[in-house]
Amino acid sequence: MSAPAVLAKHLSRSFGATRALVDVSFEVRGGTVCALLGRNGAGKTTAVRILTTLLRADGGSALVDGFDVSTQAHQVRTRIGVTGQSATMDELLTGSENLETIGRFCHLGAGAARRRADELLRQFDLLNAGNRLVKRYSGGMRRRLDLAASLIAEPNMLFLDEPTTGLDPVSRGEMWAYIRGLVSAGTTVLLTTQYLDEADRLADTIVVIDRGLVVARGTPEQLKSSIGRPFLRVTLPDASGAATDQVRQLLGDEAEVQGRSVSAPAADGLTTLSEVVGQLRRLGIATHEVGLELPSLDEVFSSVTDHSAGPEPSPTPVGGEA
Ligand SMILES: Nc1ncnc2c1ncn2[C@@H]1O[C@H](COP(=O)(O)OP(=O)(O)OP(=O)(O)O)[C@@H](O)[C@H]1O
Ligand SMILES: [Mg+2]
Repeated sequence: MSAPAVLAKHLSRSFGATRALVDVSFEVRGGTVCALLGRNGAGKTTAVRILTTLLRADGGSALVDGFDVSTQAHQVRTRIGVTGQSATMDELLTGSENLETIGRFCHLGAGAARRRADELLRQFDLLNAGNRLVKRYSGGMRRRLDLAASLIAEPNMLFLDEPTTGLDPVSRGEMWAYIRGLVSAGTTVLLTTQYLDEADRLADTIVVIDRGLVVARGTPEQLKSSIGRPFLRVTLPDASGAATDQVRQLLGDEAEVQGRSVSAPAADGLTTLSEVVGQLRRLGIATHEVGLELPSLDEVFSSVTDHSAGPEPSPTPVGGEA
């Protein structure tokens, strides 16, 4: 197997008495999307700043594309694109001027910088806004321009710190489509997010961090199936009594009735499902739908970052070890 695009081992970083990162290890395979998921103050930005050479770790090590972020910062910088959490564009320049300026910083000649700016404005549907001052851009347009700016030097590894925070649902969906497009063209993406649905929809792997520790990791499916039991739900054509009672008896003591659906924990997942379907058929009970439901990522997140349990979360990974 090829070396991972990002390999972070036991990263730690404090700011005075604040332990922003206590012990964070994870890896990102090339060509995939990894989401660092965590609440405000979890340590996401600190991790991104260390991996992008903007901040030194107090302890641990990290390789990006095989280069050490602390001793080979230059090699790392020439390979990555970064979109910070807050916008970094010059408000008093146009979108086009901003991109051209960054192009010149990346050692492109004037003509090449202009061509690259145009190409990116087109790619992110900003061509018509290219000659407008950034201070007149909407939030969604700014985020697109930030993303465009991080791509000037055509990096194959992108770090996106909360790329969709503050965007409306339509702009978020658009940003997801742009990110997916980049990934399908071969770019590796490490993004941070506080949104579970974003991690669920975009990421191949999710690393949940809380108070500077990795509290869970895995694919969205692994995280969902590692927390709580799956539920079996039988929905009847209508809420009439007799069939509801039969199904409730079939599903056992923990069955709950809600309108025309009856649900119960299904410890053995698909095995339980096929047994119940067989029994329903034998009993001649007509159903509208029978299905298994996994816990949502929201439930996963609450269960692994439950602060009511004690002062420190346990760093036990629930998915595959990185
Ligand atoms: N430069 C700094 N000086 C002092 N404290 C800092 C600094 N940067 C981060 N911290 C602290 O470190 C902790 C982690 O911050 P970080 O910005 O990494 O969190 P985050 O997960 O990105 O949060 P958010 O979702 O709000 O962006 C917080 O308690 C924060 O206040
Ligand atoms: Mg942050």
